[in-house]
Amino acid sequence: MKRHFTGNVYWVGKTEWELNSTHSTAFKLHRGTSYNAYVVEDEKMALLDTVRGQHHEEFVDNLAAEGILDRLDYYIAQHLEPDHGGCLTELMRRRPDLKIYCSPAGRRSIAGYHDSEGWDITEVKTGETLSLGEKDLTFIEAPMLHWPDTMFSFLSGDNVLFSNDGFGQHYASEYLWSDEVDPAELREEALKYFTCILNPFAPMVKNKIEEIQAMDITIEAIATSHGVSWRGDLSIPMNMYLEWCDAYQENQVTVVYDSMWSSTREIAEELAYGIREDNHDICIKIMSTAKYAENDIMAEVFKSKAILVGSPTINSGILPSMAAALEEIRGLRFKNKKFMAFGSYGWSGEAVPMIEEKLEAAGFDKMRDGLRMQWQPNQAAREEVHAVGKEIGAALK
Ligand code: FEO
Repeated sequence: MKRHFTGNVYWVGKTEWELNSTHSTAFKLHRGTSYNAYVVEDEKMALLDTVRGQHHEEFVDNLAAEGILDRLDYYIAQHLEPDHGGCLTELMRRRPDLKIYCSPAGRRSIAGYHDSEGWDITEVKTGETLSLGEKDLTFIEAPMLHWPDTMFSFLSGDNVLFSNDGFGQHYASEYLWSDEVDPAELREEALKYFTCILNPFAPMVKNKIEEIQAMDITIEAIATSHGVSWRGDLSIPMNMYLEWCDAYQENQVTVVYDSMWSSTREIAEELAYGIREDNHDICIKIMSTAKYAENDIMAEVFKSKAILVGSPTINSGILPSMAAALEEIRGLRFKNKKFMAFGSYGWSGEAVPMIEEKLEAAGFDKMRDGLRMQWQPNQAAREEVHAVGKEIGAALK
């Protein structure tokens, strides 16, 4: 379906209302997602990105039905991850003469995902321009935002910055623009997306935004490749991203735990109770790794100044759901975070030192020695945990 976006730009993407996850099952989608592909109609016609490969026939059929397929001159491959480049083989099967523009790394990604022998591919670098007639596309390489091949494109005249994954959200909506949707939902999904997709590359994101802000261009819209796009006061999403890039934290502590027979959960609850008694201003969240999706937990870790992480000892280690969460934490390269470990055990008690080792390796600062509690916490143990909670609450003021 073709929808007018702005000026000479049309949205030709795909919305997935029912998709439950992406990146295998690692990224749970509570609000679906969209893949935003765009067509610019000028004297020449350019297509920027495609949609997830599973939809390749539908996507190209739609381009044909809208009278776009036969009129296309250029394909701009901003990023070749299969949710954006996945229809390229089908597109080129039906339009083998199409001229492709991509970053130098994009050429390698195209070859990695497609049998591209004989395709007309032009590598472009930052500042190079493609004239479409009255309007031009200027390319801006954006390596590691979030793949080496990523590039942005700026359309003059309509003043649209096509930012691919940057500023995106996994957020299916009937609307195309940020000012048309629930702002709380938008911020929640944008923050989760930044945390799980872009936070590992935060220094490069910051540099790229500052580079774009210093360019002699006026941007009136940021066209994302997922969720809604941004218009109006664009300093809002730009500054939001700059804030998130800068070792972000809110006045929040998150207690993350899993439990076999409730003992570790009881420690988690008592810790939170102690924190609340001594620090009523801080936002306390308790999240079980057995209940919450990892990416939901990661978004709360991102907002936290400290996390308290608990698992019982099982088979000389930690529960699998906690192992998965700690692996996700390792990969997302959080900055400026503190932690304390805790957990119940029966006879050996390796979980707490194992959690400490993993979080210290991930760059978290240990607030105090962990709490290793044998068997189910009795009244005396509960009082000890409560006192530790108060100590942490005071330390986080
Ligand atoms: Fe939305 Fe990096 O793909």
